[in-house]
Amino acid sequence: MYRAPRGTADILPADQPYWRFVEDKAAAICNLYGYRRLDTPVFEEYNLFARTVGEGTDIVSKEMYTFEDRSGHLMALRPEGTAPVCRAYIEHGMHNLPQPVKLYYLAAIFRYERPQAGRYRQHHQFGCEAIGEADPAVDAEVIDLVWQFYRSLGLKDLTLHLNSIGCRVCRPAYLEALKDYYAGIIDSLCPDCRTRFQKNPLRLLDCKEPSCQAAAEAAPSTARSLCQECGKHHDRLQKYLLRLDVNYKFNHRLVRGLDYYTRTVFEIQTREAGAQTAIGGGGRYDNLIEDLGGKPTPAVGFGAGIERIIQNLISQKIPVPSLPQPAAFVAFAGDSVRDAAFSLASDLRRAGIATIAALSSRSLKAQLKQADASGARYAVIVGEEELARGTVTLRDMGTSKQTSVPMAELAARLIN
Ligand code: HAM
Repeated sequence: MYRAPRGTADILPADQPYWRFVEDKAAAICNLYGYRRLDTPVFEEYNLFARTVGEGTDIVSKEMYTFEDRSGHLMALRPEGTAPVCRAYIEHGMHNLPQPVKLYYLAAIFRYERPQAGRYRQHHQFGCEAIGEADPAVDAEVIDLVWQFYRSLGLKDLTLHLNSIGCRVCRPAYLEALKDYYAGIIDSLCPDCRTRFQKNPLRLLDCKEPSCQAAAEAAPSTARSLCQECGKHHDRLQKYLLRLDVNYKFNHRLVRGLDYYTRTVFEIQTREAGAQTAIGGGGRYDNLIEDLGGKPTPAVGFGAGIERIIQNLISQKIPVPSLPQPAAFVAFAGDSVRDAAFSLASDLRRAGIATIAALSSRSLKAQLKQADASGARYAVIVGEEELARGTVTLRDMGTSKQTSVPMAELAARLIN
């Protein structure tokens, strides 16, 4: 027996109303804020991610689905959505458009992680990227967008965590201070943190080990070592958020798992118990496009995990609209009228009426049971005598009331 690969899931018909709900709300909020959709390929050159997300990150060093294609090019399944959008921005000369260029995506993302509740090897993100403007008003607008998106879904108990991790000017001195601090307590750290100390000291701050958390809490804060420009940016962003009535929690330990961030970083977390609490995160990445060979271009964006959002919709018992049901189910009483019923179903569809046809020879009772299970509003029953008279029976599946309807009027009746 084959099964879906570990850490992946089939999205079954019964799950689809949640997906449609989230995707429709995403498209609606993007329309409201002037973001346009961009779809990029599922795979890209390996180096696109290695150079931006960072060789020292877990995503690149442990989690990428990497493969050589038949011509020997090293490729990777998309482990995140930002670098591909920036690649497309450069490739299609979008710097010639009015800036910022505001783009969004709904995309499958692949990470070879240890699967657990809320953490998958294939997940989906709704993401937005605003490219080409450095003003903190853009950071504020992006954060406002994602916040209003969660509100439009009806989600409660969310906390927005905000931090600034500085830029290439001020971060080196901060990292020195951080390493000085950790050097004194290195023996008390978990093995992962000892590796982080060497490879990616910023990540020391978000270690989940209880023994390391106290150390991280007492560590020097990035916000205190920001250069003047980064400090001004962070202050102005906070003023904008206040003006927008978006509540946030300043979190000096918030750093992200991707290397490209500069200045603003944020994460939206749920209060639900369980390990995976981030339902969205993002920040500014002012060097990424230049690092990919484009002109210096500031940018900011976020990604929100759709599976985690749906999990929260379910646990918070938020109802979602059901998908459209068929209007009619065409049944037949006896094999002599089977072909006529088959044609009638197709006539109804051509008239724009969502119709299911009984396709095999079964008792009328069995067909009506099938009609009930299909969710159709009406059953149209074709019988030999009625057909000769040019009529069919219309059965309201809710009330079981039956009426005789001339064939010529059937479509109009169903449309009404
Ligand atoms: P990220 O924080 O790695 O950021 O992912 C964004 C969101 O995707 C997370 O907050 C979480 O909801 C969801 N997510 C991540 N990994 C998994 C997983 N294994 N299973 C289920 N859900 C997951 C980024 O990817 C950045 N590209 C976001 C960004 C856009 N920054 C700027 N622009």
